[in-house]
Amino acid sequence: MTVTERKWWKDGVVYQIYPASFKDSNGDGIGDLNGIISELDYIRSIGVDTIWICPMYDSPQVDMGYDISDYENVYPPYGTVQDMERLIAETHARGMRIILDLVVNHTSDQHAWFQESRSSKTNPKRDWYIWRPARYVNGVRKPPNNWLGNFGGSVWQWDELTQEYYLHLFCPEQPDLNWENEETRKAIYKSAMEFWLERGVDGFRVDTVNMYSKGEMGDAPITDEGSEWQFAGFQYCNGPRMTEFLGEMNEILEKYDAMTVGECPHTPDPARVVKYVSAKEKQLNMVFQFDVVDIGQGPYKFQTTPRDYTLPQFKSAISRTQSIIHDTDAWTTVFLENHDQARSITRFGSDAPEHRIPSGKMLALMCCALSGTLFIYQGQELGMTNFPMEWDMSEYKDVDSTNYYKMVAARTNNSEEALKAAKASLQHLARDHARVPLSWSTGPYNGFSPADTKAQPWMRPLPDAEHCNAKQQQSDKASVLAFWKRMLQTRRDHNDLLVHGNYADLDPENKDLYIFSKTWRGQKAVAVCNFTDSAKALALPEAVANSKRELLVSSVDGCEEGKLAAYEGRIYLLA
Ligand code: GLC
Ligand code: CA
Repeated sequence: MTVTERKWWKDGVVYQIYPASFKDSNGDGIGDLNGIISELDYIRSIGVDTIWICPMYDSPQVDMGYDISDYENVYPPYGTVQDMERLIAETHARGMRIILDLVVNHTSDQHAWFQESRSSKTNPKRDWYIWRPARYVNGVRKPPNNWLGNFGGSVWQWDELTQEYYLHLFCPEQPDLNWENEETRKAIYKSAMEFWLERGVDGFRVDTVNMYSKGEMGDAPITDEGSEWQFAGFQYCNGPRMTEFLGEMNEILEKYDAMTVGECPHTPDPARVVKYVSAKEKQLNMVFQFDVVDIGQGPYKFQTTPRDYTLPQFKSAISRTQSIIHDTDAWTTVFLENHDQARSITRFGSDAPEHRIPSGKMLALMCCALSGTLFIYQGQELGMTNFPMEWDMSEYKDVDSTNYYKMVAARTNNSEEALKAAKASLQHLARDHARVPLSWSTGPYNGFSPADTKAQPWMRPLPDAEHCNAKQQQSDKASVLAFWKRMLQTRRDHNDLLVHGNYADLDPENKDLYIFSKTWRGQKAVAVCNFTDSAKALALPEAVANSKRELLVSSVDGCEEGKLAAYEGRIYLLA
């Protein structure tokens, strides 16, 4: 077995904060940095050791801050650079670390670099973005290729002034930077990375990290007959110069001992993933693979029906992410939620009132028993769920959701049936569900904004705060929060086995139970999770059935020896 080096970020648990929706300190309906600072003690009390702040940079907010107009400034409603300096200091003062989102595949079209680039074909920054002439087909102007953007439509936007197209893999307001240009790369490192490393941040979550090198820009194969634009993720991800670019970035990061976790979509090949995260390759410390969160999604994410997956598929996705550390010097991550995903209880457990708490605890137990760095998204520790099905389409604010709904309307000439299906999918999978205000209490606005606030929160607060809020859960021993705290302590107490151990799925075909083992130099544990809403006999696979076992933890108080309750999870230590 390869023995990998113990770095601080391996044993860490990261808590992800979405600034707009965490806590509003001044009553304008938008979360802010002072709100985060005011709850650092709460965050620390969960038992996490690092916080990750989603983009708080200055931005026109077309894609909630993933469209950055100035890396060296803060979006004014969130606060100032001085507030960030205070947040960094206050986080460190509590013995925690802080990482930021590094969004450098693209900028906002309002960034000064793009404003210059678009101003003329001879501008010195013209080549900082990706410009191409039109193609003419039967005299009709067409974009340079047929690539489909991540938020629908073509990835190319025509620019009248200079009569060329520019590339944008996301919104038209998010032009892609040209990483082929060395001067551009140096400017990125200085402005987006060093500016904040010098201010003491401990690392970055690196947005869409595998898209910097685009490779050949030819047409993508036709996979959607009815559309002019075709899925091209395998073309614009993992291009030929990725290794070189990440190596360069790493030289800077290393000087600060900064950690990195890269977002790595469209990369099903585990060997490619390992190359990104193997210690000796000096690229990234770890990545977010999409295997687990993509479960049940359609070819175009929302082209599916709710819960369109089986438990064996879910388990096999987790197995793929766990397996990359077997006999390698690579490192992995564990996560079920983030700001781009609907809530895990709704997707993988059950948000029916009687099952919300049990399934939230079971998922917490599962996550805490898996190897790798663990990431928790704000509200997950409370068992927050998707917003109600009854909510109208006007409550969906995200470009991804609203563009999809518009696209379906346009493609089907407003077919009622098609729009109903689109909404059903969004009710289940939209990014909006993770972006509502955190439920702090039962007060006005669920305690997200001060009580005397006039402005409504930018997204509607959940109607179920009475049953799920941070204040109540902090004094309730039977709460999802209390169970997360207990599980994170259990994870620390059994760090070798639970964080670093070798994982094996002991019963991959079982459609009801998830049974996996963890081993570490003679120590062994087995986790059993009942993913159904009824009690199940505890039938352990032969490999472990005859070992002497001791119950380490169950998600249910007073659990029954031979029987698992609905959505119960357990960990046994084996002799
Ligand atoms: C990443 C972010 C997502 C954003 C996209 C474009 O996937 O997580 O929120 O929309 O990049 O920057
Ligand atoms: Ca505010």
